[in-house]
Formats: sequence, C-alpha cells, structure tokens
Amino acid sequence: MILGLETSCDETAAALVTADGRLLASIVATQTELHAQYGGVVPEIASRRHLELVAPVVREALQQARAGLDDIRAVAVTQGPGLIGALLVGVASAKAFAWARRLPLIPVDHLLGHVSSLYLQPLAAEPPFLCLLASGGHTMLLDVQEPTRYTVLGQTLDDAAGEAFDKGARLLGLAYPGGVEIDRLARQGDPEAYSFPVARVPGLDFSFSGLKTSLLYATRDLPPAELERRRSDLAASYQRAIVRALSERIVLAAERTGASQVAVVGGVAANSELRASLPAGALLAPLALCTDNAAMIASAARFLPELPYPQYLSLDAYAAA
Ligand code: KG4
Ligand code: ZN
Repeated sequence: MILGLETSCDETAAALVTADGRLLASIVATQTELHAQYGGVVPEIASRRHLELVAPVVREALQQARAGLDDIRAVAVTQGPGLIGALLVGVASAKAFAWARRLPLIPVDHLLGHVSSLYLQPLAAEPPFLCLLASGGHTMLLDVQEPTRYTVLGQTLDDAAGEAFDKGARLLGLAYPGGVEIDRLARQGDPEAYSFPVARVPGLDFSFSGLKTSLLYATRDLPPAELERRRSDLAASYQRAIVRALSERIVLAAERTGASQVAVVGGVAANSELRASLPAGALLAPLALCTDNAAMIASAARFLPELPYPQYLSLDAYAAA
C-alpha cells in the first residue's frame, strides 16, 4: 500500500491506500482552532504544528489500517502548491519515511490530488470528465482527459470560491473557516432576501471579489442587533450567488466541451447547496475527501511515476503552481 502525506496548509494528514484504490485509513489533524484566533492561517505556526503532528498522524493511520511500516510499498507527498514551510515539513518527513526503508517516493501536485479524490473506490471515477476544483486557494474548471492529465479551461481572476465564503463569513461575524458556517446558517435563511450579483466575466473564468464588496455594503451600516436578525438571510443569499456562479459555469463548460460527465472537488465541493444544484449523475467528491486530506494524495500517486531511492533526497517543494 501507499502511504500519503499532506501538509500544504493547515491540515496535517496521513492516509493508506491500496494499489487498486481502496482507502484503508485516512487521518486528518486539523489546526483550525490554532489559527481561528488570527482569522486565518499563520504560516509559521502551521509549519511548527505540522512538525509536531506528522509522526502521530502516520502512527494513527497505521493503527486504523491495522498495518505496520513494513506494509508500505511507496510514500507519496504533496510537493506544492501551498505554504512553503508547511510543504517542506511534509516533503522532509516523506523522505525520511522512504529513506529509512529504501522505498520509492512519489511527489504529488495538490491540485491533481483534489481531482484524485474521485478515483478512490467505491466511486472510482474514470476520465474523461469536466471538473470544477473549488477550494480556499483555487477555483478552476479542468478538462480531465486522463487520470493525471488535464487542461485548465477557466479560473478565478481574483478570489477563490472558498476565499469568498471565508471573507463573507468574516463580514457576517462567523468563525473561521467560514464556508461550513455559511452552509449551516444558510439552511435557515431566505436565499432570495438579497440579490448579490456575481460579475460575469467572459469565457469560462470566475470573479468573486465584487460579490464580497456587495456583502460589505449590505452589512457595514447594520447595527449589531439588525445584523444578527438578518444574518441567516444574508448567508443564504450570499451562498446562493456563489453556488449559482459555479454551477452556471460548469453547465456552460460542459456544453462547450461536449463533456458527458461533470465532477466537483475541493473544500467548496462539501457545500450542500452546490452538491444539490448539480445535474443528476454528477461525480461528487466524497464529503470526507473534499477538504484537504492525504487519501487524495495517495490516490493520485497510483497514477504517477515513482522516484527510486535515493533520487528523491534532493527533492524540493514549490509554493506556487
Ligand atoms: O480544499 P481545502 O480544504 O483547502 C485548499 O486547498 O484551499 O478548501 C478549504 C476551503 C475553505 O475556504 C472553506 O471555507 C471551504 O473550503 N469549505 C466550504 C465548505 N466546507 C469547506 N465552503 C462552502 N461550504 C462548505 N460546506
Ligand atoms: Zn486543497
């Protein structure tokens, strides 16, 4: 089996996946609470926490799978993009695990990792498909031709969809990370109470920064009690605007490319309204594998070339794609 490690942002994760895509264990140690008091991820704090958590999450994954280090055939790790210090902890740890047993190492791109959350059993999606990747750092429409080969059809020109959720949540006085909070609150609100327009940019690109500004205008003059009273309507209307922008673009891209399958992955793919708004038969990343995890990294590794020992000892991480 393949041991996967993921440390690109604020989740320290380890997973064990078999060559045929069965998920044997997936452990995610989230640092959310550590960063919440700062309203976002503090890179230096994240790196230090990864260092403390990386060995324990591997140990826990092995326990969950009732396996030992000797059962591992290869080590996969997120190489980038992400926070460089955080990535380096994962890459250095993966090298150490692999080196100690002379195992091969497989560096994995984080974005390909998200797409690969679709390849695990029982979903076991097979390309070609059109994929929306919507997370805290990225919003992209991908034309996936083969498991590890895709072209980018469109992407955000400013904020990522998850970032729009997080910034909106902040304006509404909700805790970080805000996507899941807005999702929850929106269920009690009226999505038609406010009309928040989303900029329609040409082609298949996205833009979310104007939306955030309209929420700012709608909230900044509200006295606290009034904001409290209208919060769920604001959340529902704001979420509706983001979901509409995403689902309209998926449908448009599918029409243009003639794709017969559409898929959604990434943290925002956990959003209940987005999941419900997609065409029947859409490939939805399993809920537990939408936000960052190592199962998707080990899954991708199954389709990527291995670096034999000791070729990978000088491997570096990359911050930007
Ligand atoms: O994929 P991910 O864990 O990290 C990145 O690679 O960026 O995505 C995190 C993002 C955050 O912005 C978070 O607010 C958003 O995904 N998110 C959600 C939901 N759950 C997480 N957004 C909307 N609805 C949700 N249920
Ligand atoms: Zn991610």
